[in-house]
Amino acid sequence: MNPGTLRGRTGQGRTLRASGARNGTDPSMPPKLVHGPLVRSSQVRGPAVRNSLVGESLVDPLANRNRSEALAKLAITVQERFGLRSGGDLHDKLERAFEASGATNVEAWASELRLRRPGDPAWLEVVERLTVHETYFFRDEAQLEFLEREVIVPLLRERRDQGRLSLRLWSAGCSTGEEAYSLAMLVLDALRYIGHAWSRPDGSIDADPRWRLEILGTDVSREALRKARSACYAASGHGSIRQPIGSRWDALFEPAPSPFGAEDEGVLWHRPRECVRRLVSFRQHNLLDADPPLEGVDVVACRNVFIYFEAAQQRQAQAMLARALGRGGSLFLGTTDRLGCDELFDTRYQDEFVLYSRREVSP
Ligand SMILES: C[S@@+](CC[C@H](N)C(=O)[O-])C[C@H]1O[C@@H](n2cnc3c(N)ncnc32)[C@H](O)[C@@H]1O
Repeated sequence: MNPGTLRGRTGQGRTLRASGARNGTDPSMPPKLVHGPLVRSSQVRGPAVRNSLVGESLVDPLANRNRSEALAKLAITVQERFGLRSGGDLHDKLERAFEASGATNVEAWASELRLRRPGDPAWLEVVERLTVHETYFFRDEAQLEFLEREVIVPLLRERRDQGRLSLRLWSAGCSTGEEAYSLAMLVLDALRYIGHAWSRPDGSIDADPRWRLEILGTDVSREALRKARSACYAASGHGSIRQPIGSRWDALFEPAPSPFGAEDEGVLWHRPRECVRRLVSFRQHNLLDADPPLEGVDVVACRNVFIYFEAAQQRQAQAMLARALGRGGSLFLGTTDRLGCDELFDTRYQDEFVLYSRREVSP
């Protein structure tokens, strides 16, 4: 089968394009949460002290150093618990998380946070401010088409022939859900290709009900998961739907009411059709948790997450992903991500893509 073979089989339908970004930000993201205080203290906030004679701010070097050290230690804890590299702009983001927390003393705030477990709500609020949620439907579409053609179609055929009608996919670090729903669309398309699903006139696809199809999306961000579950996406320049007009996936979307009500005139909202949504569920999970959220997975897509991770935590998370995969299961990383656990996967280069298969584990 050549790369074009699967093209054009989804019914063509309406265009999903519309205008109306919200002040240059992703219009589908709600306003930031207002953060509650972790630590309250009567101590003076920050290192600057007021010079009452000249009315200028002077920096207290000792306070400044203590503040920097507290944030540097916290950044290392963030790296150890969530993977996020402690360099770059993490320090600034932690500063902003402190500002938003309502706490008044950065050292007390940081040391109390460090004592809490990674799943503690105080940590999860901070993590909202550290993570990057950029994503959209069919991101790196050529890679996803490769996944459909080289992995999903052969796997479905094999299962069909063996009478084992099940398939389990995991979008790890799914952000607001577009990747998980895209995987579900690929699976429906591939099932139709092997003759186990059929199109309806409205564009939905009915899968043979004997199939047990599971697509799980996980992320550390509760806010991203809330949006993923609402499944409501804006079609605008830098929003979730960036497919060209007339894309073969158009028919698997339907118009949706705006989550922001009447104030939202001019923005068109869409959601994946019910036949897609019903295959997908979401759960909160930290990639550095010791256990995967499910096992016996056929395909894990963990794309554009490890670019933010330090090497040691990449290896730790990839070993956990390997445990989630069943025998011969496949791992797809983002096109710029690197594999740190060579001993756990076989690597196959094909076309311009890389496919990692779970290596057989000796008993
Ligand atoms: C740039 S998005 C990638 C989304 C999607 N995979 C894609 O390729 O379009 C990275 C996501 O990884 C999530 N993430 C970062 N660190 C994580 C961790 N330790 N555990 C789980 N998810 C994490 C972030 O919250 C964010 O939603």
